[in-house]
Amino acid sequence: MEINFKFKKGREYMHLDEIMYLLSQTHWANKRHKETVEKSIEGSLCFGVFDDNDVQIGFGRAVTDYATMFYISDVVIDKDHQGLGLGSKLVSFIKSAPELNGLWGFLGTTAAEGFYSKQGFTRSTGFFMTLPKTNQGDIFNVK
Ligand SMILES: CC(C)(COP(=O)(O)OP(=O)(O)OC[C@H]1O[C@@H](n2cnc3c(N)ncnc32)[C@H](O)[C@@H]1OP(=O)(O)O)[C@@H](O)C(=O)NCCC(=O)NCCS
Repeated sequence: MEINFKFKKGREYMHLDEIMYLLSQTHWANKRHKETVEKSIEGSLCFGVFDDNDVQIGFGRAVTDYATMFYISDVVIDKDHQGLGLGSKLVSFIKSAPELNGLWGFLGTTAAEGFYSKQGFTRSTGFFMTLPKTNQGDIFNVK
């Protein structure tokens, strides 16, 4: 059965309970309190992946000053939907957000260097990976 996944930007589209479930699958945020996650959503440019039933199966956010830089955080795809290319599309979707165009992008990862290398990030120091300043991502439909 074909599923049409939707990529959406904006905290108004985010489903807090489903994001809690997604973060429970990660090694870095599986003990994060709901209030903390809610506050992080309020303070970030948020992105989600949704299935045909509008269940959120992917999440990521960018912390940014909208002028010079953005930090990508909490990127996760539900374990039952990994390996379908959705994580790559989600990161491309984040990179191509007009609000982030031309800004310096970076993130921290230990476990997914290969995944982010494919997205144009290069290792800078032990934990951090950076994206060249001229940042033109792919275009996806934004609801
Ligand atoms: C990492 C994650 C977001 C990738 O999402 P995904 O939808 O499964 O990834 P994709 O299907 O788009 O994979 C794209 C490519 O990256 C590779 N890849 C996926 N996860 C990877 C990882 N953790 N490390 C290295 N490469 C990875 C895939 O093999 C694929 O390679 P290919 O293009 O040669 O086939 C997802 O697996 C996830 O949420 N994992 C748990 C949380 C996590 O570890 N996040 C990383 C932050 S440290």
